[in-house]
Amino acid sequence: MKTILVTGGTGFIGNCFCKLLLAERKDWKVLNVDVCTYAANPHTIDEELKNPNYVFYKKDIRDRKAMEEIFEKEHPDVVVNFAAESHVDRSISDPTIFLETNIIGTSVLMDCCRKYGIERYHQVSTDEVYGDLPLDRPDLFFHEDTPLHTSSPYSTSKASADLLVLAYYRTYGLPVTISRCSNNYGPYQFPEKLIPLMISKASKDEKLPVYGEGLNVRDWLYVEDHCRGILAVIEKGRVGEVYNLGGHNERNNLYIVKRILSEMGKPESLISHVPDRHGHDQRYAIDPHKANVELNWDPVTTFEVGIKKTIEWYLSDYGKHWLEECVASEQEWLKKNYENRK
Ligand code: NAD
Ligand code: TYD
Repeated sequence: MKTILVTGGTGFIGNCFCKLLLAERKDWKVLNVDVCTYAANPHTIDEELKNPNYVFYKKDIRDRKAMEEIFEKEHPDVVVNFAAESHVDRSISDPTIFLETNIIGTSVLMDCCRKYGIERYHQVSTDEVYGDLPLDRPDLFFHEDTPLHTSSPYSTSKASADLLVLAYYRTYGLPVTISRCSNNYGPYQFPEKLIPLMISKASKDEKLPVYGEGLNVRDWLYVEDHCRGILAVIEKGRVGEVYNLGGHNERNNLYIVKRILSEMGKPESLISHVPDRHGHDQRYAIDPHKANVELNWDPVTTFEVGIKKTIEWYLSDYGKHWLEECVASEQEWLKKNYENRK
């Protein structure tokens, strides 16, 4: 039996990855190490906790002693690091915790991997490490060798972690891989990110705050497709390599918001343009050619299908309740972030 340690498995993407493993790698033991920050609704893992192949450790990846105890006890074969502070606006408001979790936490985990030995350490990274592309150059894409050129404290902390991961490969021979993915969407995403925030607000007929003109472009990928890409990198990817994951699904924010309103039967008059994010990245666009060719990975969920599934989930009885629990714990941040944009 293989043992895989997933960090951040109570968060949006990490939980989807655990669900995928439990469903399709039934002989793997799945460990979830998550300290449960504000971004983790504990009910997210209710189903997984019933599975005998799943073990949850409520621990902080920055806590070296706690991490060493888990490695000592479980001797994981594979480590996949999702745990992170992940929201750009919060990183602009207060960068320090981003540096601590995203950089120091990564180094603690890799030190444990060196000490106890592992088959693979995989770092879940983001296309934001490449900075942004101009809106008037649709011919340009991020490739794996595009220089790192970050904009926000969040993307800078993720790029720093990526460099550290590659340094552990070169210096210590740690068997690492990195995946850099575009924006994800789907069920269980915390309602501070664009899509769930807009669904939540539209469902209550509240104003939908679009930063600036809403013309910034993101390359949206359904969360399960991302998780299948990560699994493909772990199982088929070459050690020391970076793989870009994305679905050629570029849309601007205004399109996304209008689409959500139309799917929910709500009027566009709910849209409210608010002052822009500082240093707002214009366009992200991934070239996923390497993952297509080397890993035979391709996203299967079209945006049309994915956005319907996502909205249906948030409007289901379970989804509504989950969302309300998150929104209740989010009041202070929502006030702080949007008050200044009026
Ligand atoms: P998320 O914020 O939903 O979840 C992050 C999880 O990490 C939470 O459960 C949180 O409790 C946990 N965590 C935070 N600090 C921790 C610590 N010190 N110790 C242990 N656990 C801690 O984030 P997400 O959207 O699921 O993103 C997961 C990963 O994927 C991140 O590394 C992010 O950079 C990357 N990523 C996200 C996207 C996206 O669109 N969401 C796109 C590309 C890459
Ligand atoms: P977000 O979901 O925060 O992801 P990221 O900044 O990592 O791409 O934001 C996606 C896009 O939506 C980004 O261009 C900023 C914009 N946005 C708004 O217009 N309004 C909002 O309230 C939020 C949260 C984001």
